[in-house]
Amino acid sequence: MLLNAQAKGYAVPHFNTSDLEITRAILVGCSKMKSPVMIATSKGAIEYAGIKPLYQIVKTLANSYKIPVALHLDHSPDYELVKKCVKNGWTSIMIDASRYSYLKNVRETKKVVQYCHKKQIPVEAELGRLHGKEGWVKTKNSIFTDPEKAADFVEKTGCDSLAVSIGTSHGAYKFDGRPKLDFKRLKQIREKVSVPLVLHGASSIPKEIVSKAEKYGARFFGARGVPSRQIGKAVKLGICKANSDTDLRIAFEAYMHEFLHHNPRVFDYRKIFSYGMEGVTKVVVDRIKVLGSDRRA
Ligand code: G3H
Ligand code: 13P
Ligand code: ZN
Repeated sequence: MLLNAQAKGYAVPHFNTSDLEITRAILVGCSKMKSPVMIATSKGAIEYAGIKPLYQIVKTLANSYKIPVALHLDHSPDYELVKKCVKNGWTSIMIDASRYSYLKNVRETKKVVQYCHKKQIPVEAELGRLHGKEGWVKTKNSIFTDPEKAADFVEKTGCDSLAVSIGTSHGAYKFDGRPKLDFKRLKQIREKVSVPLVLHGASSIPKEIVSKAEKYGARFFGARGVPSRQIGKAVKLGICKANSDTDLRIAFEAYMHEFLHHNPRVFDYRKIFSYGMEGVTKVVVDRIKVLGSDRRA
């Protein structure tokens, strides 16, 4: 999937899910836009839903849409979770050992790559650190990816794609100020590294969602995300997958707040969730346009 995106100059959308509702809302949007998609689950998502139910939700729903879907493990903190997910049917893995020293990151990543490659499963790894929360790890200050080290890292580990730190951050943290991506660094990394590059912390919140969140009192902490123009530019400079989760969460919540405001007597959660899912699908469609993955399925 990522090599195809790299060859054709677009990026595959990566969306996180933990449940039936978000998964379906993602697939409805991707199917409408005829986009391939990587549906991602964190350690937290797996603990929330259970590994087998989560696999079945994604697998069963994905089978009813005619688009390529990968089931991706996001930010695995260790080898054990990688093995568990591979055994349970995940088709793509990320090992995140970026919190360790360079040498330990290389060692841990290489171990996962050797295991996954025996099973034809591609591996994403991370070099540098993003500000914010990555699964279980909270980072106060980001460490931008060093282009020279990135080349060495990919060569030593054999990873299939590389998550880079160029100024985005996870969660709501980045929303305190407008992020400014380090495009010069991205270009330098691209020149040195041939595998597809991945941008984490890439949520963008469409204006319509921001207005709803403001109007109906949804919790969004003034969120705006990374301006879509910057995401588009990053794709032009070699980003082949862009990760988002926070934007879907905020859309889900903003739409549900709106629904509850207009329907104070409704307590059928299916009606409330259904409206929230419309918000998620809207963000998904918007994001696909920015990444240029429409009609690539
Ligand atoms: O990058 C992390 C994802 O947004 C997953 O977040 O650990 O709260 O599921 P989570
Ligand atoms: P956001 O917090 O910007 O949605 O990033 C999600 C992410 O990088 C998942 O790996
Ligand atoms: Zn991430």
